[in-house]
Amino acid sequence: PSLKESFKNDFFIGAAISKSQINQTDSLSNALLKKEFNSITPENDMKWEQIHPEKDSFNFETADKYVALGEKNNMHIVGHTLLWHSQLAPWVQNIQDSATMASTIKAHINKIAGRYKGRINTWDVVNEALNEDGSPRESVFYKVMGGENYIEHAFMLAENADPDAKLVYNDYNLWKSEKRKGVLRIVKNLQDKGIKIDGVGMQAHWSLEGPSIEDIENSIIAYSSLGVKVSFTELDITVLPNPWDLDGAAVEQSYEQFEGDPKMNPYPVKLTDSAQIQLAKRYEDIFKLFLKHRDKIERVTFWGVNDEQSWLNNWPINGRTNHPLLFDRNFEPKKAYFSVLALK
Ligand code: XIL
Repeated sequence: PSLKESFKNDFFIGAAISKSQINQTDSLSNALLKKEFNSITPENDMKWEQIHPEKDSFNFETADKYVALGEKNNMHIVGHTLLWHSQLAPWVQNIQDSATMASTIKAHINKIAGRYKGRINTWDVVNEALNEDGSPRESVFYKVMGGENYIEHAFMLAENADPDAKLVYNDYNLWKSEKRKGVLRIVKNLQDKGIKIDGVGMQAHWSLEGPSIEDIENSIIAYSSLGVKVSFTELDITVLPNPWDLDGAAVEQSYEQFEGDPKMNPYPVKLTDSAQIQLAKRYEDIFKLFLKHRDKIERVTFWGVNDEQSWLNNWPINGRTNHPLLFDRNFEPKKAYFSVLALK
């Protein structure tokens, strides 16, 4: 049985797909996608800089194919993402006044969510609006519109443009108790104002060491207590050292200093058996928790189909060989795949 079959009564099993996966429908990668997954997210092709690069210019070519691919294969189709400070078109970053920002957001959401009305199952409406301590991130949207009101604006517009789509707030490190408070503030504020929000998306870029199962569980419970569903929207488990976890030296934002350092790339050819086992155990623990809370969880999406596709080969350090997913570079299932399936 495949992942999607095994978990069909629990939650959707998704994968992020890249431009080449959207275009090469007869590839090995797409065969695996169709066999194992019943939901897709566009890794980059609906982000503002891609889809709306200039004020009056939209680029729907890949996004159209993406939606058609999902429909053809009966998948739960995710739109990612309407509003994000990163991978934002430069022309938006130059907007200076609140009214222009509000009308720009309106034009963007109406055009994109409107184009796919009734065809996108879930929109990540706002992505990464919080700092690590739960305070609002001072993005260009926040600064120019003078507060978190841009979030309300975005959710209202999304509902209007596509009333049937599920609407999600998505962010990373949402297992942290301080950041959790920020999510609760955003969700409650929308609900108090009668604005629709259906879910919280926990990105889930995790490692072998953390976060703890307890922190993840506390977040699932906290978010679902507000009546919204929780999704794990970008799951991957890095097996490589993170520069910010290194001993000693204060490590700054620029990690080029580590590029090419063999210590930072311990598995350049293949993952050792002991690391395979550790990864399998970590995925097992995580999926055990997901199953325990299956009534609160809508979807579990991996950030990529196989290890070769993973952004973690180039983040936060370029040119490493990471092994964060359930399928290896030959599209073969890893131990972690079997440890997850064995739970069913
Ligand atoms: C990543 C993509 O995987 C990369 O290809 C791209 O270069 C940068 O963005 N949080 C998100 C995703 O919401 O959109 C990001 O995707 C990973 C972090």
